[in-house]
Amino acid sequence: MSALFLAAVQSMTTPFVPMQRSWSVAALFEGLGRDSVTCAPAEARAAEPRLWIDLAAEWDARLLEAFILERDRGLSADFLAFLEAWARDEERHTEGLLRLYSLVTGEDQASVRGRLMERRGDFRAVEPLLEDEFQLLVLLAYDEAMSTAGYREDIPFYQSLGPSAFGRLLRELKNDEAVHYRNAVELLVLAHSDRVEEVPRAVERVVRFDEAQAEYQATFVLDHATDHFDAATMERVGRSVVRAIQRRMRAALEA
Ligand SMILES: [Fe+2]
Ligand SMILES: [Fe+2]
Repeated sequence: MSALFLAAVQSMTTPFVPMQRSWSVAALFEGLGRDSVTCAPAEARAAEPRLWIDLAAEWDARLLEAFILERDRGLSADFLAFLEAWARDEERHTEGLLRLYSLVTGEDQASVRGRLMERRGDFRAVEPLLEDEFQLLVLLAYDEAMSTAGYREDIPFYQSLGPSAFGRLLRELKNDEAVHYRNAVELLVLAHSDRVEEVPRAVERVVRFDEAQAEYQATFVLDHATDHFDAATMERVGRSVVRAIQRRMRAALEA
């Protein structure tokens, strides 16, 4: 059996396995009740809009997943494995933030879930960024890198509302988002290194869109215009995503 044939067979039989971290929302919230919330009622009321934005954005991952899968985009089995692992994590993030939201605001979980279920995504504006697997992975790589940075900055705010589990939840979310970023880059390197020269333009497109989007449309991605990010942060993260992807692709092409 030739080495080339062996490599081809291996590439067919060794699908991309996305990395996934293991942690439990139930374990994190075990024993917590409304009396675990230590912030003053006025502080909880003031925190509510910010908590809702994060919770709703995590929920919206399922709207994006459904939109991606509702028509044939020629996606590979590897991409679908990536997406499935990602969606499972985002559901866990929703579950954690939903419990936290319910504890802080006093609204019961079923009521919060009912409001989330009414959300509808409007993907018309972001559709051009979902046109193929390469562009989708670039979009998600950037978005997950931004989420990692966002949650890192959010830890003190969440920690200020109650027990140490709140801060720990945010750390789990941040670390999962970093893994999503890593998985997107890994799959780009594995399957799309031939498009290495297109990476700067593809990321630039995403950053420009993120900067210009005035109103978030429940699309999961590119919700940064609505929170505390500025254009300089988006561009800095965009440059670092380009560097990371191109460095890994070039190393793979030379190997
Ligand atoms: Fe998430
Ligand atoms: Fe994520």
